Amino acid sequence: MDEQNIIKKVDANNLKVGMYVSQFDRPWLETSFFYHKFLIKSDKQIDKIKRYCSYVYIDTTKGEDIKTSIPVTEEDKKIEVEMKEKIEDALKRNPPPEDEIDFNEEIKEAKKVHDEAKDFIRNVLDDVRLGKSISSTEAKKVVDNMTESVMRNRDALLCLTQLKKKDEYTSFHSISVSILCLAFGRHMGYQKNTLKILGLGGLLHDIGKMKIPDEVLNKAGRFTEAEFEIMKNHVIYGAEILSDTHGIHESIMEVPLQHHERYNGTGYPKGLKGDQIGVFGMLSSIADVYDAITSNRVYNTALQPQEALKRMFEWRGKDFHPLLMERFIQCVGIYPIGSVVRFQSGEVGLVMSINMMNITRPKVLIFLDASLSRINPYKMADLCSPDSSKYSIKEVLNTDKYGINIQEDFKGVLLDEHISCC
Ligand SMILES: [Fe+2]
Repeated sequence: MDEQNIIKKVDANNLKVGMYVSQFDRPWLETSFFYHKFLIKSDKQIDKIKRYCSYVYIDTTKGEDIKTSIPVTEEDKKIEVEMKEKIEDALKRNPPPEDEIDFNEEIKEAKKVHDEAKDFIRNVLDDVRLGKSISSTEAKKVVDNMTESVMRNRDALLCLTQLKKKDEYTSFHSISVSILCLAFGRHMGYQKNTLKILGLGGLLHDIGKMKIPDEVLNKAGRFTEAEFEIMKNHVIYGAEILSDTHGIHESIMEVPLQHHERYNGTGYPKGLKGDQIGVFGMLSSIADVYDAITSNRVYNTALQPQEALKRMFEWRGKDFHPLLMERFIQCVGIYPIGSVVRFQSGEVGLVMSINMMNITRPKVLIFLDASLSRINPYKMADLCSPDSSKYSIKEVLNTDKYGINIQEDFKGVLLDEHISCC
């Protein structure tokens, strides 16, 4: 049997005792389940699943099968087609602003800005833990530089969000959410001053976590319901810390306070619904979830970027404002930055930058030849250039299956001069 056809998507109302749940329709951390993969042993468990999920994925090799469901591969193809049509159509109606300079010209400056942000956020997290105050001047300087970089070229800094470290999740996540907010805001047509507020909110959105007791914050497993309640307080603590910080614009508060609110009212702290949630709250919640589910954490394996977008596209209208979710996918692309793709020729590359004029033909750094051997130097192919017309993307690869570690394999490459152009 095809390995992908053993996982099926099942409406929560059709679940039966004996089925094996392999994935929820929402980030596992937003449920109160202790495990994210388990055998259903009672109707009580089914009732609990229904409280959180409209559907789940079941593994039919580990539990009961269902006749009426559609295998995930077919379901996914449908979602992919719908996503692509919606996004291409919307892009025609709302073309995003053009980059001022090329990716290759910006990447070195973007790396400098990213390093500066890393140093800043590490210090700030330590300071807040020790009860010290935040320097809003320094924070603004970091965000100003990130904003300028994203305005010059959107994808250089976005590309660096792929350099994640599992043991420094909070620092890297804070920077990535800020960058994603900036790129998303720029895509929405916001001006620099607005972007700077949104970016600062993104950088400091989880600052309240530093007030959560270590035993909860650093727990290497699922939270109990009581621990989850404690963890939820980080949004209030974050807003308190920022309102005590001199020189912070009031409108920033929306990001720490609302990034866990959900469109259908199931979020926290207030359970706000629909347009009760501010635009900054909605944008940052999308950026926050996208980075969280594409990051490896102690208790969670990262989804591939395209996989994450497909899931979030399904969650639109429930967790996220539907139109904003579609705009976010336009922004990060059908083959998002960080996706590893295989061409019809068999060669494999990493998506480095999106071509807004044709989102199905990104800029790709080719690093494996058709026999899956490393090439040296790596080759940058702009699939929109006439020279690269021979390249056609066949599929997105699962990096885990192919032993590709983006963090390790591309750390040096982003600044590496040993890249040739096709
Ligand atoms: Fe958070």
